[in-house]
Amino acid sequence: VTAHVYAQPAEVNRAVAGTIAKLIRERAETGKPCVLGLATGSTPVGVYDELIRLHREEGLSFKNVVTFNLDEYFPMQPEALQSYRRFMQEHLFDHVDIDPANVHIPDGTLPADEVAQYCADYERKIEEAGGLDLQLLGIGRTGHIGFNEPGSPKDSPTRLIWLDKLTRLDAASDFFGYEHVPSRAITMGVGSIFTAKRVILMAFGEGKAPVIARAVEGEISANLPASYLQEHPQAEFWLDEAAAAELT
Ligand code: F6R
Repeated sequence: VTAHVYAQPAEVNRAVAGTIAKLIRERAETGKPCVLGLATGSTPVGVYDELIRLHREEGLSFKNVVTFNLDEYFPMQPEALQSYRRFMQEHLFDHVDIDPANVHIPDGTLPADEVAQYCADYERKIEEAGGLDLQLLGIGRTGHIGFNEPGSPKDSPTRLIWLDKLTRLDAASDFFGYEHVPSRAITMGVGSIFTAKRVILMAFGEGKAPVIARAVEGEISANLPASYLQEHPQAEFWLDEAAAAELT
C-alpha cells in the first residue's frame, strides 16, 4: 500500500476528486464506461462536493459513469433519513448528469430470504459492467471496509452481515439513539472490493489514527479487515495529518 498524507482534508478531497475526474474523462475519450465503487458516511462528502463543482464549473460529465455503492442498512427504506440511497442522491447523484439506470445501491427493502440471490446478482452486475475501475473506501473504528466487520474473510462475497456494536454506537446519533440503529446491513464483501483495479481509502481526524496505523502497518488479519488491503496490488491510503499521526 501507499500512503498520501496532506495537512488538511480539503487537499485530500481535491486530489481524490481530481483522480476520479481524470479517470472519467479518459474513459469518455475512448467511449468507454467508467465503473466506480462508492462509499457513504462523513468521509467522502468533500470529494462528492468537489465532483459536483467540477461538473458545474469545469464541464465534467457523468454520462459514462456507472456506480456501485458498498452498502446499505437492512432493513432500510430508501427515503428514510439514514438511508444510503438518500445520502447518495443528496450528496452526489441529484447534482450531476448521471443516468439513474447506471446507479446501483444495495436494496434494504427486500424480504430477508431474497437477499442472497440479490447479492449474487449485484456481483454479476459489477462484472457485466466491466468490473470496478476504482473503489472509494472509508474505514470504521472496528477496521471495517464497507460493512465487513472483524471476522470477515478475505474472500467474503456481497452478503447480509451483523453490524459490530462499535459501528452501531458510532451510528447512534444519526438514528437518534443506539436502539434505533439497524442490527444488519447488506455489504459488498472484501472479495468484491478486491476485484477493483484500484482502491482509494480515505480517513480524516485523530479518531481514525489508531485504526489507520493498524491497517497500514499491523498484522494482516480478519480481526481488522482493512489490513487485507496491504495485499491489494493497488491500494492507496489518502489521509490528513491527524489520521496519519500514529504511522511510524
Ligand atoms: C460507508 C461504509 C463505511 C464507512 C465507515 C466510515 O459506505 O462503507 O465503511 O466508510 O464506517 O464512516 P465515516 O466516514 O462516517 O467515518
